Amino acid sequence: MKQPADSRSDKISRTGMRIRRATLDDLNSLVALENATFSADRLSPRQWRRHLVSDSVCVLVAADSQRVHAAALLLFRRNSRVARLYSIAVDAGARGLGLGAALLAASEEASRQRACTQLRLEVRRDNIAAQKLYLSRGYQLFATRPNYYEDGEDALRFARSLSGV
Ligand SMILES: CC(C)(COP(=O)(O)OP(=O)(O)OC[C@H]1O[C@@H](n2cnc3c(N)ncnc32)[C@H](O)[C@@H]1OP(=O)(O)O)[C@@H](O)C(=O)NCCC(=O)NCCS
Repeated sequence: MKQPADSRSDKISRTGMRIRRATLDDLNSLVALENATFSADRLSPRQWRRHLVSDSVCVLVAADSQRVHAAALLLFRRNSRVARLYSIAVDAGARGLGLGAALLAASEEASRQRACTQLRLEVRRDNIAAQKLYLSRGYQLFATRPNYYEDGEDALRFARSLSGV
C-alpha cells in the first residue's frame, strides 16, 4: 500500500537523517557507498565528481551529521521532459527504514522542479527488492533491455508519470 507522505517523513526523521542535495564534500562517502553496494557497473570517483558539478545531474543523499547512508543519482537532458533515475543505493545497515522510498519521492520532486513529466529507470531483472519499491510507488514496466548489464543480466525499464500528482 502507498504510504502517506506524512508518515514517510516521520519515519525518516526518526532515523535522524535528512534528504539533501549532495555537494563535493560528499564525494568520498558517495564513492564508498557505490563500492559497498554494487559489484559491477560502478561509477568511478572521477564520474561522481563530474556528476556533482554538472547542471544536468542531481545527486540526492540521505545523511545524518556523521555520514551519507543513501544516495540517488538523477539525470536530466536539455529539451527533454523525461528524467532518468540512474541509480539509488541505501547502505546495507540502513535498509528497510524508508530511505529508498524517501529518496525516490525526493527524486520525483526534483524532477518536477525541472519541469519533467516522467521519471524512468532501469533495474536488473534479478533485483526483486528494488522492483517492489518501484511497483509499490506507481512505476510501470514499459520495456526490457536484454543483456544490458556487464554480467549479461537483463534490464527492466520502469516509468512513472509525474504530472497531475
Ligand atoms: C532497493 C533499495 C534501494 C531499497 O531501499 P530501502 O531503503 O531498503 O527501501 P525502503 O525501506 O524505503 O522500502 C521501500 C519499499 O521497497 C520494497 N522493499 C525494500 N526492501 C525490500 C526487500 N528486501 N524485499 C522486498 N521488498 C523490499 C518494499 O516494497 C518497501 O515498501 P514498504 O516499506 O511499504 O513495504 C535498497 O535495498 C538498496 O540500496 N539495494 C541495493 C542497491 C539497489 O539495488 N539499487 C536499486 C537499483 S539501481
